[in-house]
Amino acid sequence: MDTYLEHEQRSLDRPLSLIDDEQSVTHIVEAAMAKTSDPRLRFVMGALVRHLHAFLREAHLTDAEFEFALEFVARLGQATHATHNEVVLAADVLGLSTLVTVMNNGTRHGRTPGALLGPFYRANAPRYACGDCVVQDNAPGLPLFVSGTVRATDGTPLPGALVEVWQASPVGLYDNQDPNQPDRNLRGCFHADEGGHYHFRSVRPAGYPVPTDGPVGTLLAAQRRHPYRPAHIHFIVAAPGYRTLVTQVFADEPAQLESDVTFGVHRQLVGQLQRHDHGHSPWGNVPVPFFTLGFDFTLEPGEQTFPKPPID
Ligand code: BEZ
Ligand code: FE
Repeated sequence: MDTYLEHEQRSLDRPLSLIDDEQSVTHIVEAAMAKTSDPRLRFVMGALVRHLHAFLREAHLTDAEFEFALEFVARLGQATHATHNEVVLAADVLGLSTLVTVMNNGTRHGRTPGALLGPFYRANAPRYACGDCVVQDNAPGLPLFVSGTVRATDGTPLPGALVEVWQASPVGLYDNQDPNQPDRNLRGCFHADEGGHYHFRSVRPAGYPVPTDGPVGTLLAAQRRHPYRPAHIHFIVAAPGYRTLVTQVFADEPAQLESDVTFGVHRQLVGQLQRHDHGHSPWGNVPVPFFTLGFDFTLEPGEQTFPKPPID
């Protein structure tokens, strides 16, 4: 690392690199970072500075607007604590989280696309046998039977694959948001059978709003955007030797799908929830109406990893 004195000495041998105009600011900042020894950090920070400077030029922010923007970022930090991350929420409602997810978890080689883990994933979901029900309370809700097969990208079924699920209740609340739900209600871990098949019983989930009591809520209101996510079920699908899939499957409710506040609905993740008004469910005598959802997952070879739960 240069000492300040060494830098001062060298600068006497060449024309001073000082600010002349808007462009020179960008060049001087880039030059100041040019000796970053980690090449990835050098590349990423260079691109970040160039794009942020280009943004400031395009938007031509006034001093007051720039001050307001910095205050907004500070408020994101102040609204972040152990059980809520307003910084992540801001990335979500600006489409940043979804863009990164799609860039890194797209449909390469026919794998199932990924979707956001979201802030409601919790460790220690109850372990169930295939066919069990993840509903632990008697709250009203329309029965939903979910089933499918886990395969590799070459079409081979993956016996014993882990299928972990969590979802909001029919009133749009996760267990940890709702004192009326038992702990870890509507969460469960299953293992696919010898043919790679999984199935479980649940209730039809509802869409729900993201938190709006912080700066992100103020931004959504200013943009005249509603804060809702469409109804979905979260899945983690994993098997040794395969890249773990973190995804969501959405209920096919067209109006809601197109206006997800986090832009999270991939076309391939829309499930067909079939309504049954007559007859018996494959799981026995269940009052009508009930719903069925078939959804298969395809994993690509790779490393099995598990996400860190954002909350307890
Ligand atoms: C969710 O899918 O649970 C979620 C994702 C982003 C923001 C809020 C909720
Ligand atoms: Fe969710």
